Amino acid sequence: MHAIEINNLSKNYGKFKALQHVTLNVEKGTIFGLLGPNGAGKTTLIKAIAGALKPNEGSVTVLGLDPLKNKWEIRKKIGYMPQTASLYGDISAKQNIRFFGKAQKVADLEKEVENILKFTELENRANDRVRNFSGGMQKRVSLACALVHHPQILFLDEPTAAVDPHLKIRTWELFRELANKGVTIFVSTHLMDEAHKCDRIAILREGILLAVDTPEQILSRGKTVITFQKNGETIQHEISSAKDAILKELQLLGLQKDINQIDIKSDDLETILLSITQGKE
Ligand SMILES: Nc1ncnc2c1ncn2[C@@H]1O[C@H](COP(=O)(O)OP(=O)(O)OP(=O)(O)O)[C@@H](O)[C@H]1O
Ligand SMILES: [Mg+2]
Repeated sequence: MHAIEINNLSKNYGKFKALQHVTLNVEKGTIFGLLGPNGAGKTTLIKAIAGALKPNEGSVTVLGLDPLKNKWEIRKKIGYMPQTASLYGDISAKQNIRFFGKAQKVADLEKEVENILKFTELENRANDRVRNFSGGMQKRVSLACALVHHPQILFLDEPTAAVDPHLKIRTWELFRELANKGVTIFVSTHLMDEAHKCDRIAILREGILLAVDTPEQILSRGKTVITFQKNGETIQHEISSAKDAILKELQLLGLQKDINQIDIKSDDLETILLSITQGKE
């Protein structure tokens, strides 16, 4: 059984097609990244899977359950960190985390709240009102609220936007730790370094899923330019970035005695994603 199964999912806002026939499975205990330009439908897809909106067509199964029919049962098992933090500004960080923990009937709540405050490095600000927090600090509180009940699946909508590099690295270390323990992480991001850290990534544009693969496989769709010197002349070969193609080319060039320097430059993930999302039908 997959942790998440999405079959032919479509969502319209009036006449506007925000998601079109999305079909996708996510393996348990993996980190799945959702990429795509602004307005591609990432938040809409996360909301549809988390049971926060009703699709027009298709089905979603989360841990074998229907998120709309088994709303309460699923809520105990998932953590959802929305793109815009939905916190209570008038109360402290600690009180916010405690509130979400209480709603989930977390056992040993005070200890869990302390643990999560420590992890998100909010201990010093634990008793301050969230309203006065910076954007990055509010993200930390929001992540803490999504984690306090130890969910089996985490939905994270751009969790590290506006978070400083230090906490960003720590956050991704935690994601990997959680995934190793069997937690499934479904995360949207615009950041290429984060895309590289996912087990699989999906690329969405105008509500249509354009590609689903490992970051390595997506990278292999790019091009590689091989530059070498032969008899004082600079020669360039453009080949595909597939590992086999590069190895074959290097083997051929390596056999030629009059070639003494070879440089390799492959497209990076950002270039390939741009060419996929800006490409014609
Ligand atoms: N409640 C709504 N009513 C009408 N249109 C909406 C609504 N929510 C989203 N949309 C539209 O659906 C499209 C997809 O929006 P969505 O928020 O899912 O994009 P996104 O990929 O998350 O973008 P971003 O990277 O900016 O967060 C956009 O064109 C948006 O304007
Ligand atoms: Mg969004």
